[in-house]
Amino acid sequence: MDKLVIRGGEPLLGTVRVSGAKNAALPCMAAALLTDEPVILENIPQVRDIETTRKLLAAMGAEVELGYGRAHHRTTIHAKNLATPEASYELVKTMRASTLVLGPLVARCGRARVSLPGGCAIGQRPIDLHIKGLERLGAKITQEHGYVEAKANRLRGAEILFDKITVTGTEDLLMAATLAEGETVLQNAACEPEVADLAALLNNMGAKIQGAGTPTIRVKGVSKLKGAKHRIIPDRIEAGTFLIAGALTGGDLNIANCDPAHLTAILAKLKQTGVKTKPSKDSVRVMGDNPFSASDLVTEEYPGFPTDMQAQFMALATQAEGTSIITENIFENRFMHAQELVRMGANIRIEGRRAVVTGKTPLSAAAVLASDLRASASLVLAALVADGETIIDRVYHIDRGYEKIEEKLKAVGAQIKRIGNMLP
Ligand code: EPZ
Repeated sequence: MDKLVIRGGEPLLGTVRVSGAKNAALPCMAAALLTDEPVILENIPQVRDIETTRKLLAAMGAEVELGYGRAHHRTTIHAKNLATPEASYELVKTMRASTLVLGPLVARCGRARVSLPGGCAIGQRPIDLHIKGLERLGAKITQEHGYVEAKANRLRGAEILFDKITVTGTEDLLMAATLAEGETVLQNAACEPEVADLAALLNNMGAKIQGAGTPTIRVKGVSKLKGAKHRIIPDRIEAGTFLIAGALTGGDLNIANCDPAHLTAILAKLKQTGVKTKPSKDSVRVMGDNPFSASDLVTEEYPGFPTDMQAQFMALATQAEGTSIITENIFENRFMHAQELVRMGANIRIEGRRAVVTGKTPLSAAAVLASDLRASASLVLAALVADGETIIDRVYHIDRGYEKIEEKLKAVGAQIKRIGNMLP
């Protein structure tokens, strides 16, 4: 199992390039199941979850080419013949987002058999809203032996009101609705940019979607979708993670190939703490040359502050003067990073959904354990300012969502290396 070894204390200086958004690429790859023509996706991040999705689609009989040549990060998916519309437990247990194939498979093949995702480190994460929505579209759902089976001759358009805002639930049902008979209206839909990116691809494939990126999405079903070529949006969470890295290390970092319009809540929060940033068309500069102060944080659905940036913000809060109260509203167990930060010297008290962080406390290097994707990012950030050499174990978590993180950080001055059997 790979480890990252990081010696703290270096200010990050220079330019770091943001990769394509993992959480846009995953639904867009699933969308290729909706057509028997090739779908080409560019700006795909080279991360583990993309490889898992490639395996998932190939296991169903789709032809999937995935290339990370210098010129492009591109995948071509041709789901001409789908032999087995199934997602096995083996793959789903490693990536819950595999449930994104449920909607497309029922819509395209009339049936799907997808393993129920187990729980995960950050919470129970049920998929009841995905299932309820598919039933509203006329699918017959059974659950047994840890699998969900869905069947429908042809899905029928319906009004679907989400009890809770769910990103992949919105995406799953949006995809299913594109081939349903008649009109579907998704109410209380997720507004994340990744939902709008998926809708852009689907409309490019011939779907008739209006309102993606707002709480109400209207879909007029069509009988067939065609192939398309689409460029995935930049990863706003990777961009936010590097913004905090620049601030924490007192550096001067240019975050290139990002979309500042997707970073509004993150930039507003950094400004509130006193961190200086300078957005331009497709990049943001962060200058960490002055002390920053504590600020409370509440995670919310987009356009609020993203839960996927909460762990990274907590690392920043440990170095801010004063007390920051962080409230995690989306997931019930997303403070796994806190104890590891405390082991490095942070002063954090967990009270249910709230974490009370008192800074500024010096951090000292330690051997720490990554528990989930964003908790790992938080530990990398803390290690960049800790005194000494931190060893982070189980970095496969971070490889799920950050492309070549040690190369990107080393290129701007971080003292970081990977040990263990190197990545392919
Ligand atoms: C997506 O997960 C992201 N993953 C997550 O990013 C992100 O943290 C999350 O949205 C919230 O923004 C992908 O897009 C692949 P939800 P998702 O359904 O869709 C409850 C990362 O780090 N819920 O929006 O699974 C759920 O328990 C990952 O990149 C139900 O109750 O999250 C949670 O409390 C982590 N029933 C809340 O809704 C359902 O059927 C929001 O979850 C579905 C969700």
